Amino acid sequence: MATEPLPHAANIIGAAVPRIDGPLKTTGTARYAVDHDFPNLVHAVAVQSTIGKGRIRTLDVSAAEQMPGVLLVLRHGNIQNVFRTFPRQQDGAMAESRAPFEDENIYYWGQYIAVVVAETLEQAKAAAAAIHADYEVESPDVRTDLSADFDGKRESSWKRGDPDQALASAPVVIDQTYSTPVETHNPMEMHGTVAVWDGDNVTLYDSSQGVVSFRTVMSEVLGVPRENVRIISRFVGSGFGGKLSPWPQATLAAAAARQLNRPVKLSVDRRMMFSNVGHRPRTQQRIRLGATPDGKLTAIRHDFYTETSQLDDFVEHCGEQTPFIYSCPNLEVTTAMVHRNVGAPAPMRGPGAVPGLFALESAIDELAIKLKMDPLELRYKNDAERDEGKNLPFSSRHLKECYQVGAEKIGWNQRTPEVGSMRRNGKVIGMGVGAASWSAARIPCTASFEFCPNGRVCVRCATQDIGTGTYTLFAQVAHAKTGVPLDHIDVFLGDSSLPDGPTSGGSMVTSAILPAATAAVSQAVTRLLNIAAQTPGSPFHGAHPDSLTIADGRVVAKDQQPQVVGVALHSGADLTANGLPFEEVLKLANLSGISATGRTFPSFEDPKAQKYSLHSFGAHFAEVEWEPDIARLRVSRVFSIFDCGRIINKKAGANQILGAAVMGVGMSLFEETHYDKHFGQPINGNFADYLVPTCADLPDLDVTFLDYPDLIVNEYGARGIGEIGMAGVAPAIASAVYHATGVRVRELPIRIEDLLQSKVLEV
Ligand code: MOS
Repeated sequence: MATEPLPHAANIIGAAVPRIDGPLKTTGTARYAVDHDFPNLVHAVAVQSTIGKGRIRTLDVSAAEQMPGVLLVLRHGNIQNVFRTFPRQQDGAMAESRAPFEDENIYYWGQYIAVVVAETLEQAKAAAAAIHADYEVESPDVRTDLSADFDGKRESSWKRGDPDQALASAPVVIDQTYSTPVETHNPMEMHGTVAVWDGDNVTLYDSSQGVVSFRTVMSEVLGVPRENVRIISRFVGSGFGGKLSPWPQATLAAAAARQLNRPVKLSVDRRMMFSNVGHRPRTQQRIRLGATPDGKLTAIRHDFYTETSQLDDFVEHCGEQTPFIYSCPNLEVTTAMVHRNVGAPAPMRGPGAVPGLFALESAIDELAIKLKMDPLELRYKNDAERDEGKNLPFSSRHLKECYQVGAEKIGWNQRTPEVGSMRRNGKVIGMGVGAASWSAARIPCTASFEFCPNGRVCVRCATQDIGTGTYTLFAQVAHAKTGVPLDHIDVFLGDSSLPDGPTSGGSMVTSAILPAATAAVSQAVTRLLNIAAQTPGSPFHGAHPDSLTIADGRVVAKDQQPQVVGVALHSGADLTANGLPFEEVLKLANLSGISATGRTFPSFEDPKAQKYSLHSFGAHFAEVEWEPDIARLRVSRVFSIFDCGRIINKKAGANQILGAAVMGVGMSLFEETHYDKHFGQPINGNFADYLVPTCADLPDLDVTFLDYPDLIVNEYGARGIGEIGMAGVAPAIASAVYHATGVRVRELPIRIEDLLQSKVLEV
């Protein structure tokens, strides 16, 4: 396959740049957390509770302790110096607030009750199997109806106008409840920790979306100063929100390593991934819409329940997008948190927005049908020109254009509204649309840049690349500002000892790193040019630094263009014309490097940014094919049109939306974690029974970026694009399914059993 040559220098911003870390990953050179090995390393295996609620009466470890190679059985009573994180609002916390083995209570099936450490993994596994727990068993509450016996409190937010009065007097009303199931994060790389102590210092190799906050949390949990803790996650096989906070296995590996004074490795296996390291919680959302007969929204109520564990307050903020997608004078969002005997939930790609927009956008489709209006017409009519929730203008919003472009691409003007009215190749066709939104911000970041004597440059930042292209983005900035070729740029990320960088969460890393990286490179270039002008023996000695610039990694006079590129210049060449490679400047000045640090000033402290509502927008258009004779449904095409500011790397950007659309197909048709009602075990906790889309399940996917720079967010105009891609897929598919079959599915995933109700029986 022919490869397009990459554009040069400043044009690299916005190009489709392959990942610079791609070869390391495809050749197996990239080392993930549990790939790390050390002399004297020993292996830990966790033992899980086999009940969903109750108490450990006795834990018999005597046989295990006598088994070959066993060094330690860590459990309640012998674990030393592990604590809860400090109470606070920011800087992160353990995803599960209870310290492991804190007491003998069992709160959910699979909770760790012991950890066996042995010389080999096999010995540890054998000993773990020999541990016997005797429980006082109680019945876990894993009921899927979240409203059942609910006696907690409901919190109101975003209230404006009088939605109840407006609903009571609305000529047209929609009142429906939508449910989304527990979805489990299934990144390729599972969780796991290698803990290495050196005196009072500990290094944890973990799979983390935020090594800086992870360091703070682990210092508190282990009771050691922050500067003694180092977290390394150089490569992360995706996280999707499940790796935003540390999980108990990190604490357990570190505690075991400290007690044994040996490096310890503790992996979370795929089965444990379903119980111990988070999930998107179940939601149950009642949506009420009021409208005039000509389709103007008069009221929106969004009242929802979200499930959480017995130990932690976690809210899936389903109503976050509700106040500003549509213009509507009367609105309220209320939240109720429901405790169940499950492990702690965690953010999962597009938390809140993804289930929330399934409900809201499905209800909008139902309203359009009731009004006999085109669903896009209804959306145009109610599009919000400003954020009516915050009462602020949007920094940049082109949602209407997303609809227009998507309609054109899918052929919406050919769509006939009657259920089952469209046919193609012996199949019934349905089309649906769903809007997407996600908030933007410029969060703090520090990055450093260095010219090195070997002709290479380095960028350093303690943020991490969770598979999104962050390594490449830093290299693009360095290349754009210096012309140093991409293969001469070394980017160091994923190590808490590097300059503080942001957590890879909320799709905010790109907008955060660009200003810091740019400032670092620009400052280092200024220093380089000054030195070139000041150093005796430099061909630019005595020149004004402002008359110099850098091109292709060489210092050149601004009024000259480099004549020769990529050829070493020696005495005799016209150095002022062809420039001096930066490493020659270092040599002349006897410097081992020139570096600078840049910082990103956060938008929440920027008075200008605070005058705007910052969000990305988008729309998915889905087409489904329904074969009634064999009750087969396929998603045939999805067009995703996104307004995410300026795209910095078209390849990595499109990759994010494609991956998210695939997860959206999974959410719509397949994914659901089932808990056994007697013991609370996730009974489909494996890849055979927990269905995710395979290539054969996928439609043709097509991504379009509108590419309008949002200069309020940063000087590049770039917002984030990770999470938003999953929002809006499920309502687009569910609405397309209704259009094809006449069956409105309000509880995901859409099952074949639902579609057997279809009255569309003939093609
Ligand atoms: Mo995202 S759910 O903040 O990784």
